[in-house]
Amino acid sequence: MLDPIAQFTQDRARAWQQKDPMAGLCTVANIDTAGQVQLRTLVLREVEGTLAIFINASSPKWRTLQQACAVHTYWPSVQIQYRLQVETAPVGDEFVANSWQLRPDAPKKMDWFYQLIETQSKPIASRRKLLQQLDQLDLPNPLVAPEQAKGLLLHIMQIERLDLTQANGVHDRQLFIRQKDTWQQQTLVP
Ligand SMILES: Cc1cc2nc3c(=O)[nH]c(=O)nc-3n(C[C@H](O)[C@H](O)[C@H](O)COP(=O)(O)O)c2cc1C
Repeated sequence: MLDPIAQFTQDRARAWQQKDPMAGLCTVANIDTAGQVQLRTLVLREVEGTLAIFINASSPKWRTLQQACAVHTYWPSVQIQYRLQVETAPVGDEFVANSWQLRPDAPKKMDWFYQLIETQSKPIASRRKLLQQLDQLDLPNPLVAPEQAKGLLLHIMQIERLDLTQANGVHDRQLFIRQKDTWQQQTLVP
């Protein structure tokens, strides 16, 4: 059996090869300060070989995602689900600043909107008002990443792989728990 992170990378590469629209995405879950579970789709990136997500620190999710979260992927093209428990660490400011420059115009503007006008996920009077305020935004020149644009590295502590492609129809479910420099593997009832 491969190292489970190498296996994840290999499975994801197969999904990419098959042009799976889910290959670039994940679902990230946390428990908010009111004790409610929150889920959202995010782009699943890589920073120097480590999985990463890029988010805005003005959102309430920033507070808890800075420590830990659960991450889910399912790639229909290869019929494999992963469930990860991760600890997070900040992506370096310089990396965030450089990769921010590659963002399309609208998300760049939105990042400055969160910084200057209203934080992400807050109610606003109307979509018309949002677009009006975006148009009037006083963007810095040169256009650089705002301080609240952040990235988080995902350090996998636990990884569960569910493979639906068994010839006999009985799914293969393997759990790997990080132990210092190695992984403890368990087969789970699928
Ligand atoms: C396909 C897709 C990709 C997304 N990628 C990101 C992303 O990389 N970063 C991000 O902050 N939000 C991304 N979003 C938006 C989030 O799902 C979410 O709506 C937003 O982050 C606000 O979530 P919050 O209220 O939990 O903070 C994406 C949404 C979709 C549908």
